[in-house]
Order: sequence, then C-alpha cells, then structure tokens
Amino acid sequence: MMKIKHMKFEVCGSCQNNCVFCAHGGMISEFKGYQLSIEELKNFIDCTRKSDYFIEELSIHGIGEPLLWNHLDEGIKLLKNSGVIGKIILTTNGLLLDKIKDETMRFIDILSVSVYPNYPKGNLLAEKKTRYSDKVEINFITKFMVKPTRRYNAIPCYCMTCGPMFVKDKIFFYCGPTCFDAAKLRGVDIFKYDDLYTQIQPNYLENFQKKNVGNLEFCNYCWANSNIKRASLPHGAIPSKATVVLMGVFAYFELRMLKDFLKMILPGFYAGLKKIKDDFYLKKFTQGTRNV
Ligand SMILES: C[S@@+](CC[C@H](N)C(=O)[O-])C[C@H]1O[C@@H](n2cnc3c(N)ncnc32)[C@H](O)[C@@H]1O
Ligand code: SF4
Ligand code: SF4
Repeated sequence: MMKIKHMKFEVCGSCQNNCVFCAHGGMISEFKGYQLSIEELKNFIDCTRKSDYFIEELSIHGIGEPLLWNHLDEGIKLLKNSGVIGKIILTTNGLLLDKIKDETMRFIDILSVSVYPNYPKGNLLAEKKTRYSDKVEINFITKFMVKPTRRYNAIPCYCMTCGPMFVKDKIFFYCGPTCFDAAKLRGVDIFKYDDLYTQIQPNYLENFQKKNVGNLEFCNYCWANSNIKRASLPHGAIPSKATVVLMGVFAYFELRMLKDFLKMILPGFYAGLKKIKDDFYLKKFTQGTRNV
C-alpha cells in the first residue's frame, strides 16, 4: 500500500464571495459552476482503491466554497466510508454553516472556518465551536497576500499549496489551485501541459516526480511560491491606482531585478563590481586556512 500524506479535493466551482485577491480565483473562473458528481467521486474512490493508495489527509477546500457542493452530505459520507481516506478537512467561509448536518459532522475531522470581516453568522459559529470543540478551527482572515503580477526568478521553492489535487476527472501531480492563476499570468493554457496532470485512472500517481514540486517554470508566476515576497492587503481592499504603482515600483527595484538591469545596461561596470565582490570573498575564505 502506498500512503499519500495530503491531497486536495475540489468539489465546487462557485462561491458567494468574490474576494479580490482570492488565491483560487483563476481556477474558479476556469471551472465556473462546476459541481463534482457522485459518479466522478465514486470513480475517484474506485481508482484509489485499485491503486492500493491510502490518503492520510483529504482537504476539501474549494475550488470556491465547498458548502455550495450539491452532494455535500452523500459525498462526505462516501469518502469517509471508502476505507481509502484517513482525515477529512473541510475549509469554508462559514456562510452556510447551518447546511452541515450533525450526521455529516461525524465524518468530518476538521472544520476550518475562515472568518472574514463583517462575518454575519457569529452566533451559529460559536454554537458549532461549543458543540464540536475538537473539530472546529476558526481562522480570522484580515489580510490577503497579493498575487504576483510578473515573472520572478525564484525556483526551486517551497510550495504553499502543493498537490496532488483531484478535480473532476483529473489529478494534478504537483499543484494546488493556484497554478491556474500562474498559467494565466504566463499567458498559457495549463491543460496543454499534460505532464502536470493525468486523467483519473488506476495508479494515477505513477508518473509523479517529487523533484518537480516547487520546481516548475509555473512556480515563477505563482502565489504559492514562498520565495516570492509580496505585500498583503486588508481583505476586501481594492487597491487604488497609487498603491498599484507603488507596489510596482517596489517590485521593479527589488535587488534581484536591479542586478539583472545593471548587467544588461552596464555589463563592464557589473563585471567590475562582481570582481571586487569575488576578490573580497576569496580573501575572506582563504585567510587563516591551513594546508592539511
Ligand atoms: C480559497 S479559500 C476556499 C475555501 C473557502 N471559500 C474559504 O474562503 O475559506 C481557502 C483559504 O485560502 C485563503 N486565501 C485565499 N486567498 C488568499 C490570499 N490571497 N492570501 C491569503 N489567504 C488566502 C482563504 O482565506 C481561505 O482560508
Ligand atoms: S470566500 Fe474563499 S473561495 Fe470565495 S472568493 Fe473568498 S477566498 Fe475565494
Ligand atoms: S506552480 Fe509551483 S508553487 Fe504553484 S502550485 Fe504548482 S508547484 Fe506550487
């Protein structure tokens, strides 16, 4: 049996909110109105069983809002009773908490509620938290990390939303939802990169290559790349033109870019600076060394 530590499981392409910097935004627009069907879900379970895989943690966190999934109760029960899944984690914006039946709560191990400013269901959430204190986690979200607006040179990286990810009839080996925005920024259709995913079938992870996680060209454009340092803005903020220009200027004059810029326009000057730096380090590293 092969154990899969964590898998992302996408059930629904809609959301009541339209958060400006939603990290899943690109994928939501690709799968507008999508609902995972019971047939697709059963096929996923069947292929997982035939592959002799065991998924230790299954994260149901989108694509948009999982509580808008039409088959929530039946689907979660099927997953938990399948025998191929350990923990089930469900992440929600908490606007439809009243939709989760007690029967369904039995099959959920962690209910993670993202509470945004002006959350209208505080009483209901407090009630759920009292009733299921060991299962309900509350995350107060006041800030959103801004998405990249250009290519970085930042791989390999730690990926904050890595795969595998199941959506519809496909398994993405390396990426979570954020790769859709990365592809958009890169100006390509992610489905044309068929080494990134496979159709769901027995042994669906056989072509997975660990070295690719956080080491794809797409990562240079991706929100989930932890090497990319960007501003966070208050949830719901729509940045003014002045803020966008300011952020652009900061990004532009980032050291790495400044270096590339110097190299391009003043190659002689850049080579001189590099020589001074190399001589300095050579001296520093050879000082006091002994021949052994
Ligand atoms: C994309 S949401 C999907 C589930 C659900 N709709 C929700 O809001 O919890 C999953 C998590 O990602 C977080 N998230 C999305 N975009 C983000 C961003 N730009 N910066 C920080 N967190 C973000 C959300 O706050 C949420 O906790
Ligand atoms: S509530 Fe969640 S999925 Fe919906 S737009 Fe906001 S972050 Fe994205
Ligand atoms: S593109 Fe890279 S950083 Fe983004 S989700 Fe995929 S592996 Fe992670």
